[in-house]
Amino acid sequence: MSQYPWHTSHFSCLTRAIMSQLDQPEIGRQYRHMSWNVFVSRRIPTEGMDLLRQSGAEVRLHDEESPLPRNELLAQLRSCDGVIIGGGERVDAEFFDAAPKLKVVSCLAVGYDNVDLAEATGRRILVTNTPDVLTDAVADLTWALILGVARRVVEGDRLARSGKWRGLSPTLLRGVDVAGKTLGIIGAGRIGAAVAKRGTGFSMRLVYVARSAKPEMEALGGRRVTFDEILRESDFLCVHVPLTPDTRHLFGEAEFRKMKPTAYFINMARGAVVDEAALVRALRETWIAGAGLDVYEHEPQISPELLPMPNTLLLPHLGSATVETRRRMSIMAVENLLAVLDGRPCPNVVNPF
Ligand code: GLV
Repeated sequence: MSQYPWHTSHFSCLTRAIMSQLDQPEIGRQYRHMSWNVFVSRRIPTEGMDLLRQSGAEVRLHDEESPLPRNELLAQLRSCDGVIIGGGERVDAEFFDAAPKLKVVSCLAVGYDNVDLAEATGRRILVTNTPDVLTDAVADLTWALILGVARRVVEGDRLARSGKWRGLSPTLLRGVDVAGKTLGIIGAGRIGAAVAKRGTGFSMRLVYVARSAKPEMEALGGRRVTFDEILRESDFLCVHVPLTPDTRHLFGEAEFRKMKPTAYFINMARGAVVDEAALVRALRETWIAGAGLDVYEHEPQISPELLPMPNTLLLPHLGSATVETRRRMSIMAVENLLAVLDGRPCPNVVNPF
């Protein structure tokens, strides 16, 4: 018996049989009208699109890197059975109202804080995400931020290109050592653990905050500490928690004031985990030494005060942006969507009912 109300085993068998015949043009034409109607909200890697089109689904794609205006997005949803959300578009009651046939929202992301899950569940709409396949890519970029801020990589690059460099100097653009320092990880899930693992290669002390002791962190020599302790002890403090009502503004003035004036704050999670105005103040008034940020409270806006600060390294939400990882994510997002529509088990449903 399927968990999905729109699915019967008879229909699923029929769908599979039809799909297997779709490469035979006559039969494909005959049954194509029975295929799912799917909207893809942003350009995604071709591998995912190819898979979706091969499934026989009727696909519409917003083939751009920038989002559709909200009213145009909503207008696309009327006939949709499924939608692939490529860029964190807000999925809420208004969105669902515009999509009366919707059965699945497939997020091409691990985070799904842009989706009102209670609303989705109340309407019997399943939501899926793309975990695991992006863990290494995000951990690598976290390290790019750590090393980038510690060694002033962007400032060095600017100077090298400026024509103003006057040669090797013992006092030029000195950064700080990473080796021997304390790496703090807040949110010791898959990505946090992958960042910690890389830290052992840099001979760092590891402290972490989690609800319970994490064997993978302990195996790396990690010490579980309180939130206050991690603020006070970390030289590089990395945030890897999902955005939830509990973690919204987890970092504000009080937290930044507890950090060392030599500490660097690294955020690869979600911007709204931080009160960005408080972070601006912490940087301007040197409560902390610097920040590496991939995410912002009001994306794509970035607090203008951050832009000229030499002690910030700012990226435009690139955490999982490698060719290989985005290819895997696009395939997984399509597989998730088709599995739900076809009534097959999908391990990446985040609101099972
Ligand atoms: C990107 O931010 C993601 O959640 O995968």
